Amino acid sequence: MRPNLTTNQGVPVGDNQNSRTAGQRGPTLLEDYHLLEKIAHFDRERIPERVVHARGAGAHGVFKTETSMYPFTRADFLSEEGRETPVFVRFSTVIHSKGSPETLRDPRGFAVKFYTNEGNYDLVGNHLPVFFIRDAMKFPDMVHSLKPSPETNIQDPDRYWDFMSLTPESTNMMTFLFSDYGTPADYRHMEGFGVHTFKWVNAQGNVVYVKYHWKPVQGIKNLTAEEAAEIQKTDFNHATRDLFDSIEKGDYPEWELHVQIMPLDEYDSLDFDPCDPTKTWPEDEYPLQKVGTMTLNKNPENFFAEVEQAAFSPSALVPGIEASEDKLLQGRLFSYPDTQRHRLGPNYMQIPVNCPYAPVRNNQRDGFMQTKQQNSPVNYEPTRHADAPQEVPAFRDSVQPLPSGYITREKIEKPNDFKQAGEKYRSYTKEEQDNLIKNLTDDLQSVHERTKLLAICNFYRADAEYGQRLADSLGIDISAYTAQLSKM
Ligand code: HEM
Repeated sequence: MRPNLTTNQGVPVGDNQNSRTAGQRGPTLLEDYHLLEKIAHFDRERIPERVVHARGAGAHGVFKTETSMYPFTRADFLSEEGRETPVFVRFSTVIHSKGSPETLRDPRGFAVKFYTNEGNYDLVGNHLPVFFIRDAMKFPDMVHSLKPSPETNIQDPDRYWDFMSLTPESTNMMTFLFSDYGTPADYRHMEGFGVHTFKWVNAQGNVVYVKYHWKPVQGIKNLTAEEAAEIQKTDFNHATRDLFDSIEKGDYPEWELHVQIMPLDEYDSLDFDPCDPTKTWPEDEYPLQKVGTMTLNKNPENFFAEVEQAAFSPSALVPGIEASEDKLLQGRLFSYPDTQRHRLGPNYMQIPVNCPYAPVRNNQRDGFMQTKQQNSPVNYEPTRHADAPQEVPAFRDSVQPLPSGYITREKIEKPNDFKQAGEKYRSYTKEEQDNLIKNLTDDLQSVHERTKLLAICNFYRADAEYGQRLADSLGIDISAYTAQLSKM
């Protein structure tokens, strides 16, 4: 027998087709509770979309630790070979809204939530190893320049090139983004990076710097601009579809997690700042070490409940993993829980996809949409009550010397904005270089002449051939500037 359709109060509904009216032709009566509740709930179906990374797809899976990282971090889930930790992953594009095509040139988000025995750990990364800027102060401006114009509601290259050309630290990221790596074939065939430097702290309190890399076992595949445009003609969901279908048919995607580890005292010997997110670390000096493998093996049962309401944050850290001094990361630590209280409400951590598997005993109470009230009357600490939760000194944060001795607002000492961008350009194959120049030319074509020139100067300072090729391709004579640029 089919179950009863009910009102919100669980009362059986007698008629779900016709409103209750005065006479057969109406008007409709205010007393029709079922009609009012049905429409009122519908009116509230949408929640604010993420201010960035609105478009995404997610999946559940497991992370298996294959090499114990115990010498470097006390993080419980990384300490034992063979340990399996459940994960939830959300991939995303960054700039456009929730219904936008998945073929656009954009970094892809790669956010992983590990439900560890010692609480949730989120690794909220991207598919490119560096970022546009290095200070959180610049993030809202950067995003504004990339978002659609407030005037036309259309993304405008003149706006973001205006910002980027005056932000020389973006040169490295733009060299990644405008190559075909800026249009990955789908979510299964892309890498992931923590981007920032984090700190690992071991059981003895020793601290090292660490950077994270996810390597797709499926291999890396990118699209040329033409291939992306071809897909976009018929399908703006291709990456979500690919992820869902492959998991549905049991072809589970996998990523190996590797780390680079650096002692804390390398600063003087490097020509860049190890906590600068616009830089990678040279892999010959800081080799990749494999930690384990992640397998995505279960699709969400409900997109809204699990993917839309998922809340990741770089501040969700576990004992043994801490933030570095990175000024971009420091801003992110605040931003994510702040936006999630706005987007999902103050009790967003009680939504099942966000809820830690580890027990939560935090003395926090009440608030909108409270569903997991902790019942003890002793909702404070310290207390004489023997059964009440108490702090655990063994889990105190690491103690470290301050990196510098004064309070200031300053740029970092070693910005080195161009060297790695030049190295990246020279590392590309001939075809990759050709596509990069073509993609940049197509995009820069429409921007203001001064912005074009500034952008070319930045790429020239990264590599003279790179800048010259771009200038030639844009039909701009830079011979008056090259002597001066070569000396910079
Ligand atoms: C999402 C802020 C830099 C990766 C978000 C969201 C905000 C935000 C407000 C929406 C979160 C939500 O509604 O749940 C910032 C700020 C940054 C910054 C203020 C710099 C100061 C970065 C960087 C990365 C990154 C450097 C990559 C390393 C992501 C990802 C998401 C995201 C992957 C989507 C998470 C998800 O799937 O729910 N960011 N972001 N962000 N951000 Fe950032």
